[in-house]
Amino acid sequence: MRLPVLSPAVPVILVGIAGAARAAYLDLRRRRLRISRVTIAGLLTALDVASMGVTAGTAAGLLFLVATYLTFVQPLYLFALFAFEAVATVGIGLFLWREGRLQVQFQRPIGIVFAEFLVLVGAYELVEPHFFFNYPGFPLNKEPTLFWAAWVFCGGAIITVIVPQFLKRREEHRIIERVTTQGEAIQAEYTPATAECPHPERWKMLDSMTAEVEVLDFLKSLVVTVKPELVVETGTFMGLSAIKMAEGMKANGFGRIVTCEFDPVVFQKAKERIAASGLAAWIECRNESSLDMKIYGTIDIFFSDSDIPIREKEIRKFLPQINPNGIVVTHDASSHYKIVREAALRLEQEGLLSVVLVATPRGLVIAQKREGRK
Ligand SMILES: C[S@@+](CC[C@H](N)C(=O)[O-])C[C@H]1O[C@@H](n2cnc3c(N)ncnc32)[C@H](O)[C@@H]1O
Repeated sequence: MRLPVLSPAVPVILVGIAGAARAAYLDLRRRRLRISRVTIAGLLTALDVASMGVTAGTAAGLLFLVATYLTFVQPLYLFALFAFEAVATVGIGLFLWREGRLQVQFQRPIGIVFAEFLVLVGAYELVEPHFFFNYPGFPLNKEPTLFWAAWVFCGGAIITVIVPQFLKRREEHRIIERVTTQGEAIQAEYTPATAECPHPERWKMLDSMTAEVEVLDFLKSLVVTVKPELVVETGTFMGLSAIKMAEGMKANGFGRIVTCEFDPVVFQKAKERIAASGLAAWIECRNESSLDMKIYGTIDIFFSDSDIPIREKEIRKFLPQINPNGIVVTHDASSHYKIVREAALRLEQEGLLSVVLVATPRGLVIAQKREGRK
């Protein structure tokens, strides 16, 4: 029996398809999307995923071609061309993969991977003839074409539409939209390493606004340990820290939390989450600014977690009402963010607080009021 003769291009294409499918699968998985949900997340997300897949597939095919080149007995000038293309495609693929990771972490707009794919591939195709073709003695000719210029133009046009829209929206709203469309999942903390916390990836996080998972657990333990009558939190966001503290209160069997969120859209989302948690009875949610909020009674735990630049103001405002045996906690006090850390040290220097700087990725200050401490 005669076996059919396969073209040498067949294994290259097969490896390319396998690479594309694998990359698209991994990309979908890290975005926590199912194919059926791609339409909900939007056409642009689908194009982002497809761009990553096509690039990875092309890179895999080219690498395979280069690695097995000699078996195909092709002319040597093609080897140099394929090697150059493989290196360029791997470079583009690594860049797009990184962009996709930043997208998952909410610092890039949906569609940016696709737009950058168009720009980079188009630019590469425009530049390549200058490197490889049209040389005296090089047997192939290729000219930059309008087709590839159109790719660059389309990619650039998409970027100019999506980036300003993305930048206009508050990060809180972007996170809420993502959680609503794609659900939420725990990932490794991605805040940059600091001198005091060189391994942030050892911590876990849900999103860039909600405190680290370990800090949420700590807040619950604090409530169980301190047994507060009244906890005040500034900055509810989606309500997860308030819900955690409410779990502690439920275990204690008494107490209440007052938490404030000034953004009405975020406040609405927090109300829904808190209602769904079954712990709403322990939490009073207020749609107002911390700087306008009035609290009656003594605060046993004060958790300042609103806008970073106003944390010091909040602590100064509520300090007279804080129980000298109580605890002040403020978040985002790492040396990376600076402002809260410096504010805490200033309050200590002024003799108002005794502070402990806890080296979590985003940094936590645990403090106690000096005045009246026994
Ligand atoms: C870091 S997030 C809070 C995270 C939340 N405590 C948690 O760990 O789940 C900060 C929140 O404070 C809100 N915020 C900012 N300034 C505020 C203010 N002056 N009063 C009340 N909320 C504010 C923001 O809208 C945002 O939702």
